[in-house]
Amino acid sequence: IMGNVTIAHLIPVADVPPRLFGSFVEHLGRCVYGGIYEPDHPSADGDGFRTDVLDLVKELGVTCVRYPGGNFVSNYNWEDGIGPRDERPVRRDLAWHQTETNEMGIDDFYRWSRKAGTEIMLAVNMGTRGLKAALDELEYVNGAPGTAWADRRVANGIPEPMDIRMWCIGNEMDGPWQVGHMSPEEYADAVEKTAHAMKLAESGLELVACGSSSAHMPTFGTWERTVLTRAYEHLDFVSAHAYYFDHGHKTRDAKAMQEFLASAEDMTGFIDTVAACADEAREANHGERDIALSFDEWGVWYSDRWNEQEAAWKAAASQGLHHEPWPKAPHLLEDVYTAADAVVEGSLMITLLRHCDRVRSASRAQLVNVIAPIMAEPDGPAWRQTTFYPFAEAARHARGDAYAPAIDSPVIRTETYGDVPAVDAVVTWDRTAREGLVLVVNRDAEHAHDVAIDLSSLPDAGDAPTVTHTQVLHDDDIYRTNTAQEPDAVTPRPLAAAVDGRSVSTSLPPVSWAAIRFT
Ligand code: AHR
Repeated sequence: IMGNVTIAHLIPVADVPPRLFGSFVEHLGRCVYGGIYEPDHPSADGDGFRTDVLDLVKELGVTCVRYPGGNFVSNYNWEDGIGPRDERPVRRDLAWHQTETNEMGIDDFYRWSRKAGTEIMLAVNMGTRGLKAALDELEYVNGAPGTAWADRRVANGIPEPMDIRMWCIGNEMDGPWQVGHMSPEEYADAVEKTAHAMKLAESGLELVACGSSSAHMPTFGTWERTVLTRAYEHLDFVSAHAYYFDHGHKTRDAKAMQEFLASAEDMTGFIDTVAACADEAREANHGERDIALSFDEWGVWYSDRWNEQEAAWKAAASQGLHHEPWPKAPHLLEDVYTAADAVVEGSLMITLLRHCDRVRSASRAQLVNVIAPIMAEPDGPAWRQTTFYPFAEAARHARGDAYAPAIDSPVIRTETYGDVPAVDAVVTWDRTAREGLVLVVNRDAEHAHDVAIDLSSLPDAGDAPTVTHTQVLHDDDIYRTNTAQEPDAVTPRPLAAAVDGRSVSTSLPPVSWAAIRFT
């Protein structure tokens, strides 16, 4: 079959970093309480963790989990979450206006991570705290027994150092919504001092500075240049955050859907700009090492719903001084994803893989209940959202090296990004195991496309490839969702693929994501 899209000339990008398949658990809504932790749930284990959720986390293939926030961390006392549960203080969380019981803290999350088989990426509070609290937490978490904080950890039942390597120095400190937000200069100063001290305390740490909260912040670019140039010597990563949603979802506007399907264009521009800022910082410091990107919040989030909820709550609060409600584990940001949302997330994952020379870590936000691939009913079942599938395929099967192919494709017209190729793709190839994966997306809202993927430029690929597994995620109703009542409404199906020499051909329906595994 000759396709109208040809994917060929596979250009090596880099080895696929395992941390690209990270996720994010924030003390927000029901992500922690009623998500990963629900001691009264029938599936709960001795630590109170939902094992039905743990099983899905393992199936998802998550490698590394950012914790405990997010906006939450900027008003968080990490010490509140250690020691006997019944002695832990209850606090107000200013970020999401909820009551924090502190039933989960770093010790509990460490235990959960060991069960999930995931690395921890730990964020510290730079909003209401800073250097001193970060150093104390570092000693508590990673210190060898024999010093005050490390011995507290031992007394709390964890004799071994947790060996957490990757630390986020604050969260979105450029955002006016952030408790204790800062100007670029203020944050550059704070992160330089904190990172310097943390590395004095422990070598081998990998430190992440806050980057811009989105490519649309007024200080985008300036923030990165200021922060990275000042703190270059002590930094390993700069964070990037980007969320996308269909701005026409309320009226199901076709034009808005086409824009949404092309969201990866924004992510690409974001990565290129931040990488250029990191290069400038390296040159200004006469350095040889690149600061990598940690795309530690990405995904589809219908943030307009949250903005409306917050506006209503603020309007009520403006009626005068009164005691506002501080609910425990409220239903917040519980987006239910459509088939189209899953296609966009598949496309964003392709973008991350295509740029994995610069993006060496990423966290899809978040993991359970809150803008999440996994949903969990209180006292009820857990199930997979549509967005579960593209992530799981990449996390479990993208191995070896990533290759960015040249793609000859018809274009789709967008207002925001101009004409962009309808089809995007990435190939990974593990030369040792001789296993490969093609991830491909059809972002065209109207037309199917025949696609031919020429694998002949892969190194050591041998003769004709054997296709071992295929799947396509598509639904004729692009707004279809998975729910507790109908958890398998949208699931991937096998995709017909033909091999002709070193080329694999298939046909992709409009608004679809597909994966082809080969040996
Ligand atoms: O993931 C939800 C929120 O989005 C995070 O708390 C914050 O960092 C970002 O603005």
